[in-house]
Amino acid sequence: MAIQRVGILTGGGDCSGLNAVIRAVTRAAIIQYHAEVIGIEGGFEGLISGQTQKLTTRSTKDILTLGGTILGTTNKGNPFEYRERDTDGSIKITDYSDKAVQTFRALKLDCLFVVGGEGTLEIGYRFFKKGIPVVGIPKTIDNDLEKTDYTFGFQTAVQVACDAMDRLHTTGRSHHRVMILEVMGRNAGWIALEAGIAGGAHIILIPEIEYKIESVIKKIQYRKKGGSPFSIIMIAEGAKQKGGDTIKSETAEGRLQGVEKLGGVGFYLAKQIENKIDLEVRTTVLGHIQRGGSPNSFDRVLGTRLGSHAVDAAALGKFGTMVALKTPDIILVDLKDLAGIVRRVSIDSQLIHCAESIGINMGRKAM
Ligand code: F6P
Repeated sequence: MAIQRVGILTGGGDCSGLNAVIRAVTRAAIIQYHAEVIGIEGGFEGLISGQTQKLTTRSTKDILTLGGTILGTTNKGNPFEYRERDTDGSIKITDYSDKAVQTFRALKLDCLFVVGGEGTLEIGYRFFKKGIPVVGIPKTIDNDLEKTDYTFGFQTAVQVACDAMDRLHTTGRSHHRVMILEVMGRNAGWIALEAGIAGGAHIILIPEIEYKIESVIKKIQYRKKGGSPFSIIMIAEGAKQKGGDTIKSETAEGRLQGVEKLGGVGFYLAKQIENKIDLEVRTTVLGHIQRGGSPNSFDRVLGTRLGSHAVDAAALGKFGTMVALKTPDIILVDLKDLAGIVRRVSIDSQLIHCAESIGINMGRKAM
């Protein structure tokens, strides 16, 4: 099956490498298949409004290294449950999915590349079931998608968090302080775990292991007694204390996005420990710095490979799929196998064993 005119959209939270994917899809579709490429703007919102731009090798030149997405994105634009604020401030929810399908048909596209994380790909799968030929491309700094070794954007976020750790080390050591770094990742601890190991953290707290505060305090005191009166703690935004709950900066109600927002656990932890030790505690929240800026070389290559392979999959008519990294290959997996699944760190994984075996406290052992 030939592809003549293809569409691409980027949905959900942005991350580094989106433009590398857009460039690869555009170039592969044009160079390999002489197809036209239409960029749909603002994620699925563009499928409702019909706002598009034609993508060419010229319009996508120089974007390989650029952060963000030239197509724009949105977290709130689920056409099946589109959330708008009414005049009285309440949230109105409308199903615009038929309208989105009509737009897709009116654009005369042979396929739609949906670049996104778990939420966006689930919407993509719902559109596939409504008859749109979809190929998914896995994106998220959280690295929490099933069936792929890595999502693009993750490694860059890890590097940013690792650089922050290096800086916290020098100031923490100078001042004899406990430095806490809170990173993103939602309910998965991948960023915290990998950046914590890479950045030489003494304590790493992730959502998958509920931490015991006594364990954290003991580790800090043990280090101080041993002649290291400072400690560096990496904590994932979704981490929680044993028997406690995740710390939310906003609840879902009243938010246009319709999902809870995590954040603040770093400050919560600081409060828990500062009255129990005689060291000062400082918290840094890294936030969206992990999502912005230029992708590292790993994410540039991964994004390019995923984009190129997605175009080949479309040309072969393999719809309802997602391109995935199964090292060393890019493979195709079914979108239906991803729906609603969040891939979290296994608490029995080699990675956690590795961390604990070199003395990193994961909030569950005596030291
Ligand atoms: O899913 C990516 C992510 O950056 C999460 O790690 C984080 O919890 C969330 O998005 C933040 O979302 P927002 O950009 O809406 O604040």
